[in-house]
Amino acid sequence: MRDARCVNLTGVPETMLWTLHNRANEVMRRDSFLHDPECLRIYRSIDYDYGRSFGKPDGSHPMRSKVCDDVVRSWMQAHAGATVVELGCGLETQFQRCDDGKVRWLCVDLPEAIAVRERFLAPSARCRHISRSALDRAWMHEVDKKSPVFVTAQGLLMYFDERAVRQVLAEIMDSFPGVELIFDTIPRWFARKTLKGFGKTKHYIAPPMPWGINQNEIRPTLRSWSSRVTEVHLVSYGYCRGLYGLLRRCSTHIPLLRNMLPCIVHVRTAGGEDDPSGGSACRWMRSGAACPDRPSIPN
Ligand SMILES: C[S@@+](CC[C@H](N)C(=O)[O-])C[C@H]1O[C@@H](n2cnc3c(N)ncnc32)[C@H](O)[C@@H]1O
Repeated sequence: MRDARCVNLTGVPETMLWTLHNRANEVMRRDSFLHDPECLRIYRSIDYDYGRSFGKPDGSHPMRSKVCDDVVRSWMQAHAGATVVELGCGLETQFQRCDDGKVRWLCVDLPEAIAVRERFLAPSARCRHISRSALDRAWMHEVDKKSPVFVTAQGLLMYFDERAVRQVLAEIMDSFPGVELIFDTIPRWFARKTLKGFGKTKHYIAPPMPWGINQNEIRPTLRSWSSRVTEVHLVSYGYCRGLYGLLRRCSTHIPLLRNMLPCIVHVRTAGGEDDPSGGSACRWMRSGAACPDRPSIPN
């Protein structure tokens, strides 16, 4: 009989345990910025030597979750009952953290990943699971096109090659006029490093992450990929602890360093019912001003 606590994942799906490890360890802190009892429950339910594979936890993934939560919550306030699609959801509990009782949520991931997710999180009428690749357009047919759509992709796009990233983003923008997106990127140097075999620890080599892009390339690249792009906001990871946090704070003033760091990208597109004035969630983006708690990165 299968051990209920044992999770056998390999390749990119196994990375969902890496991000879970980092989030759960943030949640356990007394001074945590992330409140997520479900994350902790799942983390403790899985028999996996997180430390052996991923080493000492760091704050990057929980901070990414917090930044995404803030953006998504703000959008949900302006679009009650609309749809959030979470591509490459893994064991993220963003729906559980952000649920306002009205949002409709679609979690999309590969079949083996959704099978693991469903051992810990049951789908529901407002939080559905779709066992498909994000690159398979079929998930788009599951989305109600009559109401606004927000698409998130945390820790996903870097695992695709550039052609696939371009194609999936363009298809999303064409299929859901006015869609907003949030995703994260890694810089080129780090993508190259993973292609040579990036050992996170002695016992764990991260899967290749072919898509790298430097921060100063993000705006022009996205605009060249789709004429629907109206706003590209590079969102800072905000406060991070330790050396990484120090590097981030210094990078605000040093463009060369900034270009070499991962980034969170919030994109707004044309064609939604809000157009041309846009939704309140993004008013700060259009003004070019820094969002109060998410300082914009100058480009
Ligand atoms: C680094 S994990 C991130 C999981 C989650 N978003 C988080 O932040 O905790 C990468 C996720 O991407 C999923 N994934 C990989 N290839 C995928 C694909 N083609 N379509 C959808 N999901 C994919 C993996 O199964 C895994 O859940």
